[in-house]
Amino acid sequence: MVKNFPDNFYWGSATSSYQVEGGIENCDWASQCRNYPRVELKSQKPCVPCAGRACDHYNLYEKDFDLIKQLGQNAHRLSIEWSRIEPEEGRFDEKEIEHYRKVLQSLRDRGIEPFVTLWHFTLPLWFAKKGGFENPKAPEIFARYCGYVVERLGDMAKFWMTMNESMVYASGGYLKGVWPPFNKNFFRFLKVIKTLISSHLASYIIIRKINPELRVGIAKNNIYFESFPLISHFWNFYFLNKIKNHLDFIGLNYYFHRKLFGNKNKEVSDMNWEIYPKGIYYLLRELKLYNLPIYITENGLADAKDTKREKFIKEHLFWAHKAIEEGVDLRGYFYWSLLDSFEWAYGFGPRFGLVEMDYENMERKIRPSAWEYKKICETNSLEV
Ligand code: FCB
Repeated sequence: MVKNFPDNFYWGSATSSYQVEGGIENCDWASQCRNYPRVELKSQKPCVPCAGRACDHYNLYEKDFDLIKQLGQNAHRLSIEWSRIEPEEGRFDEKEIEHYRKVLQSLRDRGIEPFVTLWHFTLPLWFAKKGGFENPKAPEIFARYCGYVVERLGDMAKFWMTMNESMVYASGGYLKGVWPPFNKNFFRFLKVIKTLISSHLASYIIIRKINPELRVGIAKNNIYFESFPLISHFWNFYFLNKIKNHLDFIGLNYYFHRKLFGNKNKEVSDMNWEIYPKGIYYLLRELKLYNLPIYITENGLADAKDTKREKFIKEHLFWAHKAIEEGVDLRGYFYWSLLDSFEWAYGFGPRFGLVEMDYENMERKIRPSAWEYKKICETNSLEV
């Protein structure tokens, strides 16, 4: 049986600047990593791994966009690195804007629609030193940065996300305390969420004022919590409910299923994350209540041997399609990730890529599952 996706569906894969670009030294993550001189942030914990050269995507982006083209994808999600654009407070670097203009242009030249995230986890060092999103001035500072970028690059992309996974960011840095600034404190965690909400609102307003044609959303990590209604309500809906009147679309990032009693025979990825494709269907159905277009902005798994990826993608798409059949306005799917890349606190171990990276010589090798995904992208349909 063939499942057809709606016309003009976007098929792509996603990356983020710090995870693939390389050479980013002026942000909180770099300042806290092993090979760099430590810069004292508020509280110190064991440092995080270094991204270093990562995939050298900053220099090799054309090569990577050729791969996207070769793989039949018509869209790509990427992020702009705030610490490059605003290396010191209030000093903006036109050269870096020019760099991203070339990057976006080279996607356009290949007929690939860019989906741009303005902030994906890493903070410019000067901003981190001021307390980052704990600082009450953060919304103003963040909106100024977003406005600056959109003034200059707004003509290059229609789809913009102000931030990636605000709740995951706040939880990594302030609840679990495993990411910079390693500030494990529940009250700070709540404060950061509050400031992130205001930061989205302020930047949404500025971006739409600069260019009302643009579509502005966020990438939101939702977890399928089976029988945890309260936690689910807080994690999945709190942030969205606060910003729902300032959103043109919702980006859903789906990885996790959590339930009260574990199933021993469950299938897992290399990260030991449970594979639960039907979760995407439940979450999409829940998001229907916002009455907004939805894009799956991340969904993927670490699978170095590439034995599970094809099935993973197909099964998640099967359930996503079921949600569409039931009236969910889903308009695109971005696999995480195009390339193997720097996986935050886990470093370079996990292999999420459709394309395998050899970090020694920066060679890229397309994995077999990527060719299977290509068939889906090119036919706009899934055979089941
Ligand atoms: C998401 C992040 C992304 C990547 C994947 C595996 O939470 O947005 O950067 O690390 O997980």
